[in-house]
Amino acid sequence: METNERKQYFSAELLSWYRKHRRDLPWRRSRDPYHIWISEVMLQQTRVETVIPYFHRFTERFPTMEALANAPEEDVLKLWEGLGYYSRARNLQGAVREVQERYAGVVPDTLEEISTLKGVGPYTAGAVLSIAYNKPEPAVDGNVMRVLSRYFLIEDDIMKAGTRVKMEKLAKELIPEGAAGDFNQGLMELGAMVCTPRSPHCLTCPVMEHCSAREAGMEEQLPVKKKAKPPRPEYRLAALIEGEGPNAGKVLIRQRPQEGLLARMWELPHTEAPFAYPQEGAVPDTVSVLTEHLAEETIGVSVRSWFAHAEHTFSHIHWDMQVIACRLEPSVLPLGAGLLLPSHYQWVDRDSMGQYAFPNVFLKLLNRYFAQQPVS
Ligand code: ADE
Repeated sequence: METNERKQYFSAELLSWYRKHRRDLPWRRSRDPYHIWISEVMLQQTRVETVIPYFHRFTERFPTMEALANAPEEDVLKLWEGLGYYSRARNLQGAVREVQERYAGVVPDTLEEISTLKGVGPYTAGAVLSIAYNKPEPAVDGNVMRVLSRYFLIEDDIMKAGTRVKMEKLAKELIPEGAAGDFNQGLMELGAMVCTPRSPHCLTCPVMEHCSAREAGMEEQLPVKKKAKPPRPEYRLAALIEGEGPNAGKVLIRQRPQEGLLARMWELPHTEAPFAYPQEGAVPDTVSVLTEHLAEETIGVSVRSWFAHAEHTFSHIHWDMQVIACRLEPSVLPLGAGLLLPSHYQWVDRDSMGQYAFPNVFLKLLNRYFAQQPVS
């Protein structure tokens, strides 16, 4: 089959398949560009089933851009808690504030304008423009690249920026007149439901008949994806500092710095330590690295016992963490120091921890700790 015919067949079949088989997803019931934008931001690196409850809670609490623009950032992070990649939430709020100020509260409908907003890259721009405004712009993410690389048998490494540019050009050519939103969602839907990474369901695929990878028996070998560097391992020691007296039943948490990884979220105090072979149940010899780190923050502690082992993987770092139960002990510091807590430290208990946004790894540790404590 000649290339143009192959393309026309793909576009027409995919569009009618999508219109018949599309899943009923909450953001597909809305025509509000703001809601569609939220969904596309949440869906980056996150599965549909995970996103659905977050999408409902978020649009209920912030139904309009005005509501989101005026909300404290902590509230936004709290609703995002557990979804990960928290800069997405901060950027979304920042961008919505920009839309309020610069575009009179209307999400821009041109590629030039929408692409200037914080956190809006080529994928999000194309997705919002096509789904909300039916503009013929491509929305190419990893799923879409997988579909295109198979149907057109493209063997370029999808980790390379140039490959994405090539795929965007192709995806744009494929958009049928007047049907950009449905066609782009059809591509995403095919990638999610049929043209899956492993064991694709070719027999139910609407375009199998002219799929080049299928013809060549290469559907399982595509896309070509050179391995990304594995995350750098970091060994960490964390302190679970238990309160006494007026703070009995409470744990000391601290807020992260304004900038950088997990900015402004709350955590158990922790620090990087030299690697020590993790021994379940034992306080590692390197624990002084932790107590010295805390002393520098004017938190004096005495070490009690090992509490837990925890791990967390970010895109570029892997935390391997031993959590040590400690007691606040200002007397280990020079005279008079440590009597007042620094302002980025806070006591929390089972009931008040809900007011702070924690990365998943700390949320789990705190829940585990409070579950073990007797209810007072
Ligand atoms: N993945 C990214 N965007 C999506 C959408 N709008 N629907 C389903 N899955 C998606």
